[in-house]
Amino acid sequence: MAYYSDYLALDSLLNAQHPESDKHGHAAHDEMLFIITHQTFELWFKQVLVEVGTVITMLDRSYVPEADVALCLARVQRVNRIMEHLVNQFALIETMTPGDFMDFRAYLNPASGFQSMQWRILERTLGVPENKRVLKHYTEALSEEHRAALDAATNGPTLFGSIQRWLEQIPFMESGKYAFWDAYKAAVLAMLENDRAEVRTLAVAEGNDPTDALAQIDANGRGFLALFEAESYAELVANGSRRMSQRATLATLFISTYREKPLLHTPYRLIDAIIELDKVVSLWRFRHTLMVSRMIGMRVGTGGSSGHEYLMQTALRQRVFDDLTSLSSFLVPSGVRPELPEEIATRLQFVNETRG
Ligand code: HEM
Repeated sequence: MAYYSDYLALDSLLNAQHPESDKHGHAAHDEMLFIITHQTFELWFKQVLVEVGTVITMLDRSYVPEADVALCLARVQRVNRIMEHLVNQFALIETMTPGDFMDFRAYLNPASGFQSMQWRILERTLGVPENKRVLKHYTEALSEEHRAALDAATNGPTLFGSIQRWLEQIPFMESGKYAFWDAYKAAVLAMLENDRAEVRTLAVAEGNDPTDALAQIDANGRGFLALFEAESYAELVANGSRRMSQRATLATLFISTYREKPLLHTPYRLIDAIIELDKVVSLWRFRHTLMVSRMIGMRVGTGGSSGHEYLMQTALRQRVFDDLTSLSSFLVPSGVRPELPEEIATRLQFVNETRG
């Protein structure tokens, strides 16, 4: 029969706080808070990794059943709530004043969150683009053992990769002579023409020079149309403006455009939850950075980085799902949205809605 503290291994858990300041004979009251805060963060990182790991397993397959898409959505939403909880948890450590922290900071050296193996596993598992890393040699801070464990834990597919694979398989984008991207491209051209006409009308009414506004519309249009041509899309990938495959990008546009169709609704919510995940991870980075600047100002970190400046750059540069987030610039208003062919529209209903 399980006994509460055995089941939860409380003996180990509650005896795992060993303030360094005690060992140095200068007990600093707030070091216990510092340790427990870090430990709870690490516990939640563990839960996040479990959830993200199962999402990857479910999506990284040649066929993903509807029910699994719903389960992935629930898991990603759970991760998002955990990350929000962690963002709020920084307020707890801020009950420690910078002066209280100085009482024991020197004893920690050179320990730092920089050496959090789980955080590195999480970054790689999500799919942080390695070419955008602020510090290319970020793994050097880890012990040899942890570096090996990090490599072993991250030699499989990433969340980015599995989302892309799932999107690439979204059906219904083509049927017979119909191809979603042709219809969408026509809608985009019509939208751009409307925009140009509006700018010209406004310019005549108000006596403005429309040249700049028209040039802006043309530039947006070129960026937009590049999504539809394999060659120009390849250029976008080569110059780093896009990372996701063209097929996955078009599938995201398709799902977003017809998001109210029953069979696309859960996929749409999953995409939305993934965008949210990228947001909460960035929020975590920003919130940590703000807390750090309050605690140590512009000092360098115990891990040897530039501290605040380094952390701020990671928040700005190391996002994973910009491809999904940025697609909102390419959505067309419902007024010019292309109608789906009857056959596809019907297939996107739930089964009982297609009867009678
Ligand atoms: C007084 C509180 C804290 C201070 C002053 C602080 C400071 C820093 C600094 C300066 C860095 C940059 C690396 C370095 O040179 O050390 C860093 C990185 C990091 N810290 Fe903290 N930190 C604090 C609390 C926390 C907490 C509660 C966590 C939760 C686990 C955490 C997790 C991390 C992680 C994961 C990194 C690596 C970030 C990256 O490289 O992208 N830190 N921290």
